[in-house]
Amino acid sequence: MEKTNTKTRVFSGVQPTGNLHLGNYLGAITRFVALQAEHDCLYCVVDLHAITVFQDPDELAHNTREVTAAFIAAGIDPENHIVFNQSQVSGHAELAWIFNCVARIGWLNRMTQFKEKAGKDRENASAGLYVYPNLMAADILLYHATHVPVGEDQKQHLELARDIAQKFNNDFAATIARAGFADGFFPLPEPLITGPATRVMSLRDGTRKMSKSEESDMTRINMTDDADAIAKKIKKARTDPEPLPSEVKGLEARPEADNLVGIFAALAETDKESVLRNFGNASFSSFKQALADLTTSKIVPIGAEMKKLLAEPSHIDRVLERGAARAHAIADPILDKTKEIVGFIR
Ligand code: TYM
Repeated sequence: MEKTNTKTRVFSGVQPTGNLHLGNYLGAITRFVALQAEHDCLYCVVDLHAITVFQDPDELAHNTREVTAAFIAAGIDPENHIVFNQSQVSGHAELAWIFNCVARIGWLNRMTQFKEKAGKDRENASAGLYVYPNLMAADILLYHATHVPVGEDQKQHLELARDIAQKFNNDFAATIARAGFADGFFPLPEPLITGPATRVMSLRDGTRKMSKSEESDMTRINMTDDADAIAKKIKKARTDPEPLPSEVKGLEARPEADNLVGIFAALAETDKESVLRNFGNASFSSFKQALADLTTSKIVPIGAEMKKLLAEPSHIDRVLERGAARAHAIADPILDKTKEIVGFIR
């Protein structure tokens, strides 16, 4: 394996927990697609993360194929890049164990996502949910990935991954130097949180994130929604009584308006300024109509392609199997070196 960390490598993951939505698409998957032109990329369906909350086994398998189908339908190329599911590469779990012993409990206690997901009944959350960020660090560092495209909500987890990489490099500095790595063993991965839709909000409440687990389906646009569902959800989306402002500053303190303008900008591959140049002073009813048309034109063809791909599950399974074999080829030497550095006899 290479002894310097100069090569860039992109890694990111999506959980197969159902209800893949517009936030996942705009905050993550469209970014994954764009990065393919310039980087070697690994895109992972993180089934080990999914089971930190109980998943029905049949649904988990279906959802794993569905996320894979969404990747491909959105434009990820599984020939030139690597698409696989996490549980097929055992190194994720092995490295996560080592990181469980590197990360400090105090660090995990600061994770806001654990607090939100565990809620009030923290005693009853799985132990896996608590150490979830260590597994996420392992996902990235198992490949010495340098860049990680994610939505805003994953920023804190990425900071933790950097802390883990740094602490490992410090704790094992002597054996790392002996193994010939001059500038540390694990690179500190950079989060890539870019574009106008890094945090897409619920359609019913502009202060809450659009989420797979929100009970009401009216809060989100699913990747498999048809044109009628999209039109209905956008029409019913909460707004305020004022027309749209003509400048971005006018979106401050108007979370619902800000969210819809951000979604429009991301779908149109432009920015909020330019959306407001066209729609400043427009009523919400006309803006919503344009937004529904744009959303339909972008999402419905992807949903249709996903359905087509899902009709042939064995094809998807082959993509994942081949991806896993290629992921193994990168991960195995890195895991092997990690074990040597830690002092395990191999
Ligand atoms: P997950 O499955 O919750 O979400 C997948 C990706 O979608 C982004 N996202 C959003 N972006 C904008 N607006 C939203 N409302 C929204 N909701 C979700 C997420 O930020 C994410 O990028 N822990 C991760 C999965 C993971 C991972 C990794 C990511 C596991 N290992 C290693 C990067 C690197 C998660 O639960 O994502």
